[in-house]
Amino acid sequence: MQIVIQADAAAVAEHGAAVFIRQLQQQPASVLGLATGSTPVALYQRLIRAYQQGEISFRQVKTFNLDEYLGLSGSHPQSYRYFMQQQLFKHIDIPATATAVPDGMAADPIAACEHYEQQIAAAGGIDLQLLGLGRNGHIGFNEPSSGLRSRTRIKTLTQDTIKDNARFFQPGEYQPHLSLTMGIGTILDARKVILLATGKAKAQAVKAMIEGPLSASCPASALQLHQQALVVLDEEAASELSQLEFYRHIERENASLLARLGRS
Ligand code: GLP
Repeated sequence: MQIVIQADAAAVAEHGAAVFIRQLQQQPASVLGLATGSTPVALYQRLIRAYQQGEISFRQVKTFNLDEYLGLSGSHPQSYRYFMQQQLFKHIDIPATATAVPDGMAADPIAACEHYEQQIAAAGGIDLQLLGLGRNGHIGFNEPSSGLRSRTRIKTLTQDTIKDNARFFQPGEYQPHLSLTMGIGTILDARKVILLATGKAKAQAVKAMIEGPLSASCPASALQLHQQALVVLDEEAASELSQLEFYRHIERENASLLARLGRS
């Protein structure tokens, strides 16, 4: 795991966006895995700006989102499909047919999950997967106790997650308790993974992910198994890490090695 610690949330978004911009410049036909939640919004804004300034294009890109609420249609304002339309897709040149989000209204949601896996495989797999982090250590909607090799499937949300996400729903509005989510195995199959976490509320989950045991109790700890996982944190999210100074030291060493090799 490469651990990068930035001063604040804006710098985290900047760092994350730079990774995506480089990916698209080097491989314009990339397959991107995308995430929802409040954390990636600032990163998406930077990607939109880079597109508007002609630095990147999404014309050849394919995207797969991590998850969706079961029972919400794509036109529901709290659906993740709607979120992606508003926060990213409608502002860039990606063809509508190249964006995939699990179908929350599928007549057979179990078959829809299997189909999602087939679509990802048919696209050649995911080149770069973006992740946020739940306060309980979830990635996508892989709640604690999720199988570490799980594939796209229906997951029951924990009360904590339902409570955390209640802020997005109107009082009295129906809030789903089930989701369709890529599995941890699906996420681990991505060739590169980048996880962003900001704010004090994520500090315990960040510590469990990086320094805790590999365990289904903290689904994000599965990233310890990934060959190319980059974790970008702000100071607050990094504040519970016991080896903080060591991680900063590694980054300085990496930077000077790359400079010596002329690859910075
Ligand atoms: C939701 C999503 C996750 C996301 C998490 C954190 O539960 N399913 O993919 O990472 O929320 O959201 P936020 O970035 O708003 O803290």
